[in-house]
Amino acid sequence: MSNKIKHVAVIGTGVIGISWVTYFLSKGLEVTASDPAPDAEERLRKGITLNNPDISLELLHFEVDPVKAVKGVQFVQENGPERLEIKQELFAKLDAATDPSVLIVSSSSGIQASEFQMSAKHPERILLGHPFNPPHLIPLVEVCGGKATSEEAVLQTIEFYKSIGKKPIRLLKEKKGHVANRLQAALWQEAFYLVKEGVASIEDIDLAISQGPGLRWALLGPFLNLHLSGGNGGIKHVLEHLGPPMESWMKDLGTIEIDQNLIELISTELSNVLKGKDLQKIIDDRNKVLLDLMDMKSKAVELP
Ligand SMILES: NC(=O)c1ccc[n+]([C@@H]2O[C@H](COP(=O)([O-])OP(=O)(O)OC[C@H]3O[C@@H](n4cnc5c(N)ncnc54)[C@H](O)[C@@H]3O)[C@@H](O)[C@H]2O)c1
Repeated sequence: MSNKIKHVAVIGTGVIGISWVTYFLSKGLEVTASDPAPDAEERLRKGITLNNPDISLELLHFEVDPVKAVKGVQFVQENGPERLEIKQELFAKLDAATDPSVLIVSSSSGIQASEFQMSAKHPERILLGHPFNPPHLIPLVEVCGGKATSEEAVLQTIEFYKSIGKKPIRLLKEKKGHVANRLQAALWQEAFYLVKEGVASIEDIDLAISQGPGLRWALLGPFLNLHLSGGNGGIKHVLEHLGPPMESWMKDLGTIEIDQNLIELISTELSNVLKGKDLQKIIDDRNKVLLDLMDMKSKAVELP
């Protein structure tokens, strides 16, 4: 199936849609994009060139009407607003306008496929393909079927993403926030708590990740990293040996409310940290190192 996907539709071309279009074009796919905003096509063309100045726009088409945009495509990536009623209406339209063999995939961060596939006549090919921002740089896509999605559609979607160089993971059940954002939420919860409790400065908490475990986490995940901490005994030894203290830290983790006080505290301290620094340079450096890192990772065949 994946090698039969030559032409994709990208519905909704805001932040995420523009980035998907950039990525699909960079992989030589024909792309028809659609968005109802009056300046959408211009924004899209500028955005693609900003994302990747080397990209050719020859295989790009634009249609305001999503029904026209999906004509003749084999895959649809939906990135409309994060509102259930809009997704339900949009998926009913996309479903009616496409052959049942076409995969229709949503980028939604928080709405599950089960919630918007029921309005379709062919819900079995409707599912979630949640990217990480920006999808033209970050390989992860979380794939998850809804109650009515077929196994075949999930496998075909995973195969397609793999064939164009993405790193899809499969969610075996629907869960609010999917997987990666839940893991991030756990970390942010404790980071905010430590700031509120005055345990360390924002600058130092950022360093505690970026110069510490974050370096390893970009290479291996939490489980393989833990396995390597256990020497010959691996993860089993670590959990038997360090499990009890780890559990006591887990029980001591803070809970937090993101109220106005916390927002003020964090945003004021962060603007002090950034004083005299050029944020655009930080972004440029981050993107450059990220690309170098991913290039190195792709050559280190044993790294996942
Ligand atoms: N921003 C992120 O970090 C991020 C990351 C992963 C996934 N997502 C998901 O991607 C989707 C898009 O998010 P975004 O951040 O790009 O939002 P955005 O607001 O930047 O873009 C949404 C786009 O949808 C268009 N739109 C409005 N009504 C529409 C309709 N009826 N049909 C089609 N398009 C319509 C808007 O004109 C706009 O260009 C959401 O479901 C979101 O959860 C966002």
